[in-house]
Amino acid sequence: MSDAPRRFGVLGTGHWAETCHGAALAAHPDVELVGFAGRDPARAAEVADRVGGRGFASPDELIGAVDAVTIALPPDVQAPLAARAARAGRHVLVEKPLALDLPAADDVVAAVREGGVASLVHTTYLFQPDITDWLEQMRALAAEHGPWEGAIARWAGTIDAPGNPYGASAWRRERGGLWDTGPHALSVLLELLPPVERVSAGRGARDAVNAALEHTGGAGSALSLTLTAPAGAGGSFAAVWGPGGRHDMPRFHGTVQDGFARAVDRLRAAAATGVPDALDAACARDAVAVLAAVEEHLARPVGERTTPVARR
Ligand SMILES: NC(=O)c1ccc[n+]([C@@H]2O[C@H](COP(=O)([O-])OP(=O)(O)OC[C@H]3O[C@@H](n4cnc5c(N)ncnc54)[C@H](OP(=O)(O)O)[C@@H]3O)[C@@H](O)[C@H]2O)c1
Repeated sequence: MSDAPRRFGVLGTGHWAETCHGAALAAHPDVELVGFAGRDPARAAEVADRVGGRGFASPDELIGAVDAVTIALPPDVQAPLAARAARAGRHVLVEKPLALDLPAADDVVAAVREGGVASLVHTTYLFQPDITDWLEQMRALAAEHGPWEGAIARWAGTIDAPGNPYGASAWRRERGGLWDTGPHALSVLLELLPPVERVSAGRGARDAVNAALEHTGGAGSALSLTLTAPAGAGGSFAAVWGPGGRHDMPRFHGTVQDGFARAVDRLRAAAATGVPDALDAACARDAVAVLAAVEEHLARPVGERTTPVARR
């Protein structure tokens, strides 16, 4: 792939930037890890010392020195930086969720188009062979028996567990599991069900959100999302059903670094061929649209979004 980007830089200096993006890029045989940039140049230099490349004084300095950026920053910081990098002609590999509001997500999509660059969202599960093999089997069953009619997805983080690396993550605390775990659940369901047209939702304990999604053509799905599950109640599972039976999503056994390396390969292929990947910024924008619709529903006065149950 002679036209594929080779020089990669990481925007971000936190846990995920170092242990996933940085580690995967440093080990990737076809790319060069040029370095890191964040809000603190000293931290960027420290991370680079541990992982590879060098620390840059600012995101713009790093953007100027690479062919592509990968971004591991809070989503509201990520979106404007992704748009800036794309408009500067850099290919962009973003994290989920792309943004925390729809205008910011739309601007990244516009920037990717204007910059004529490739984009990809790192939806962890969709870069794991255990999951992609299962999705392929599910698509084959749907082709044989008819489309899937429904799905349920429970995604529960345990951010309050001792030692959880995301315990101090401000955007997670503010926006909860809807925005952190919701993109993972949606990424799997939208591989098997048509786009979401309408949503409704209710609240549970702490940050828990339970959403009902109505898909084009009549399928319905349910999401149960949190990142503050009690000890022993975390983890994720999903199931899909229809004329092809009922099937549970398997666990994945690969590493996130190997998955991220596959995402890098997909971004490079999209850049080399000029053919957008199915998991591009527009796909990430569509997930933000669903999450924003759920949030809008939840913001309604309780009397407008729920029907009270008659007491005896
Ligand atoms: N795909 C997955 O499975 C997966 C897993 C984990 C994370 N992620 C994604 O990766 C992204 C980053 O996640 P994270 O957990 O590392 O987030 P985070 O802990 O909330 O923040 C990451 C780092 O960003 C920097 N930062 C925080 N606020 C900032 C601000 N206002 N301006 C500039 N920098 C700021 C901080 O680094 P400094 O203090 O060093 O500046 C912080 O350590 C998120 O989109 C998340 O969803 C994805």
